[in-house]
Amino acid sequence: MKAVILVGGKATRLLPLTSNTPKAMVPVLNTPFLEHVIRHLSQHGVAEITLAQSHQQQAIESYFQDGKRFGVRLNYNIENSPLGTAGAVKNAEKCLTEAFLVLNGDIFTDLDFSAMIEFHRQQEAKATIALTPVDDPTSYGLVDTNSQGRISRFLEKPKADEITTNMINAGTYILEPDVLTHIPPETNFSFERELFPFLLERGEAVYGYSSSAYWTDIGTPQKYLQLHRDLLSGQSNRYPPPSSAGIIANKGSRIHPTAEIEGRALIGANSTVGERVKLRGTVVIGSDCAVGEEATIEDAIIWQNTRIGSKSTVRNSILADNCCLESNCVIKDSILGDNVTVVSGGQLKPGSKIQPGEVVG
Ligand code: GTP
Repeated sequence: MKAVILVGGKATRLLPLTSNTPKAMVPVLNTPFLEHVIRHLSQHGVAEITLAQSHQQQAIESYFQDGKRFGVRLNYNIENSPLGTAGAVKNAEKCLTEAFLVLNGDIFTDLDFSAMIEFHRQQEAKATIALTPVDDPTSYGLVDTNSQGRISRFLEKPKADEITTNMINAGTYILEPDVLTHIPPETNFSFERELFPFLLERGEAVYGYSSSAYWTDIGTPQKYLQLHRDLLSGQSNRYPPPSSAGIIANKGSRIHPTAEIEGRALIGANSTVGERVKLRGTVVIGSDCAVGEEATIEDAIIWQNTRIGSKSTVRNSILADNCCLESNCVIKDSILGDNVTVVSGGQLKPGSKIQPGEVVG
């Protein structure tokens, strides 16, 4: 089966992390997010993938090239202006002559694609939407199905007394190619708001494939941090958690024996963790980073080539590439874009979002 992955969104909610880096290239466990998705598809026998892009396409193409290294063949389909989720797939129509998968490019899931494909075929569906349960159904669009899984209605952000299900659209679809005839060409068009309700209205066979497999998107910084917590605590069956020592240290990294690790940490290649550093909660440090002595890092994701000065504290924060915290800095609940410098003793207000290249403190 072929797949289309939608990677052409603006990723505004992840700014300033996505100022220079497309959401698909944001690192998760120090690997570009999209690589996790592509490898998962490849494991389920998907051999050809079209990436539907509109922004910052260069970084994606330079990294993935023809896809051979990841076990797939990749096509790049570029929109002149963003066409929305369904418009983007319509734009890739020439590659799609039989049933195909569509994935929102910001979803991490353990979904069994092979079982979903089997379900789609058995039901002879025109469209199958993966569904996942949520704890708080009031803040989502819900999808009701009958006992065979056929979708009976879509409920947008319902009131408490209207709730009859807790299943939501999980951003993965299988479509027969003829449904594309209902999408206008070169027009911004949405699966969720336009195509699927239209198919339902026409009485087409639209099914929901329910699964409680691990699922999240990385649309917001909170979800991005939560994905790391989940992966390092073994919530996804695709990634074993660190051993009891709580740390995974990549090649060339050096962790001083006096460093304390209370939680789970991943240290990238050629990074150093200095004397009496405290790593707490979930900590991921990219390659070529240096953490100075007596620094404390708690629940933080730090990308590549970043320096944390001695006695600095980083808590519940994300730091992009090439940042520099001088000594005695305090960063809490904040996001730093690429190449940010925080001068010695600098303290950021919680909730700060620092644009790439700024010098603050
Ligand atoms: P925000 O600006 O933070 O809402 O992020 P986003 O632009 O990525 O939007 P959203 O999270 O709703 O998008 C879900 C998925 O669809 C992401 O993988 C996007 O890259 C993708 N996507 C959204 N709009 C388009 C589009 O117009 N074209 C293409 N090719 N992909 C899109």
